[in-house]
Amino acid sequence: MLVTELISKKQSGGVLTNAGIDELVSEFAVGRVPDYQMAALLMAIYFRGLDDREGLRFLDAMIRSGERLSFDSIPRRKVDKHSTGGIGDKTSLIIAPVVAEAGVPIPMISGRALGHTGGTLDKLESIRGLRVTLTHEEFARTLTKHYCAFGAQTESLVPADKRLYALRDVTSTVAIPPLIAASILSKKIAEGTNALVMDVKIGPGGFLTNEFEARELSARLVRWSAEYSVETIAVGTDMCEPLGRTAGNRIEVAECLDILATGDGDARLIELCAVLGGTMLKLGGVCSSTDDGKNEFLRILQSGTALARFQSIAEEQGADPSVWREFESGERAANAQEILAQDDGFLQEIRPRDIGLGLVDLGAGRCIATDEIDPTAGIEFFKRRGNRVTRGEPLARAYWSRSTTSVQTGLNRLAGAFVIGSAPAETRPLVYFETK
Ligand code: URA
Repeated sequence: MLVTELISKKQSGGVLTNAGIDELVSEFAVGRVPDYQMAALLMAIYFRGLDDREGLRFLDAMIRSGERLSFDSIPRRKVDKHSTGGIGDKTSLIIAPVVAEAGVPIPMISGRALGHTGGTLDKLESIRGLRVTLTHEEFARTLTKHYCAFGAQTESLVPADKRLYALRDVTSTVAIPPLIAASILSKKIAEGTNALVMDVKIGPGGFLTNEFEARELSARLVRWSAEYSVETIAVGTDMCEPLGRTAGNRIEVAECLDILATGDGDARLIELCAVLGGTMLKLGGVCSSTDDGKNEFLRILQSGTALARFQSIAEEQGADPSVWREFESGERAANAQEILAQDDGFLQEIRPRDIGLGLVDLGAGRCIATDEIDPTAGIEFFKRRGNRVTRGEPLARAYWSRSTTSVQTGLNRLAGAFVIGSAPAETRPLVYFETK
């Protein structure tokens, strides 16, 4: 095919035909369209956009590039949850075992850390032995037995998205809203879910920085998934500050295990889990309204039974059963350093993007795809946004185990994320909107 024709058409603001998109995506998925041509087309799309028909056709062609899973043998409505990504966003690890405990199966295909944002798979892999690269049979067995499986995208599940996403990541073309929607939905539709709760993050800790863009993406996700009979509810939530008391990988797992054991923890994190989890229970048909779902979610969380379910899922996926004792004993990183308040006043901001970039420098994320993660790298917050602080008081503690040249840069970035001012911080909503 003549990809140069498609590139020049898009450059001049034209629209691509269905046949052109189909051939482009299927040839790219098998390596017959070189990355440099696709990168040029992506840049043209970045500036000229895609209309609804073109975007939907990309979605369709991406789904058709690989296999489509089906879990019809489980006679219940399958519901997944996905976030557009943020800092300290550990909600999946808390929500999934609670929702599974309520009898709603969750076929969860998650992502890795991307740019400054963290990834569920990297957090899970910090549990010794746990594997997320499951065969279809292993994924189905875990889902059938525990009502939840945590998996990574495989070579056969939407291969076109796997290649396209990697290319968008390194060519600064991630922020194309129709392609974000197509990328997320292609994986969700191919994994065989019947319904989806989307957590669309708004703020500098995520990829969408304003509510308008988030509302547009949410409406598109709801509309497009309906074409495939997947009922979606998108919730626009705050990402102007890190979520919960920790950010990193192992340290976030420890926070989740503690919440699952006690039913208690950071109030904003638990409220967000209840909103998203309650919506999943409504979509799964076990509660008649989102409010009932929220109450049921909190009841199960507070009962503490979801901890054993999380551990069973993790052990089914290879986690060493002795690993839980290490989390209890608080075994941490080789190095730690406190971040001290530089002034008296109110903590006005904990800038999430600086926290995310600082953590990448400490080894919690990747600069290039082949970088190895330091699972112990992370940060624990002692103070929240809005708290009164005094000069010299510890605000947080950073952890890391590998002594690399970027550690000092990371520590400086983390320290710079804490903004102290004389006036109390204004309050912000946690949930901005819901689109269904
Ligand atoms: N997450 C995805 O899976 N794809 C995107 O394009 C953006 C976020």
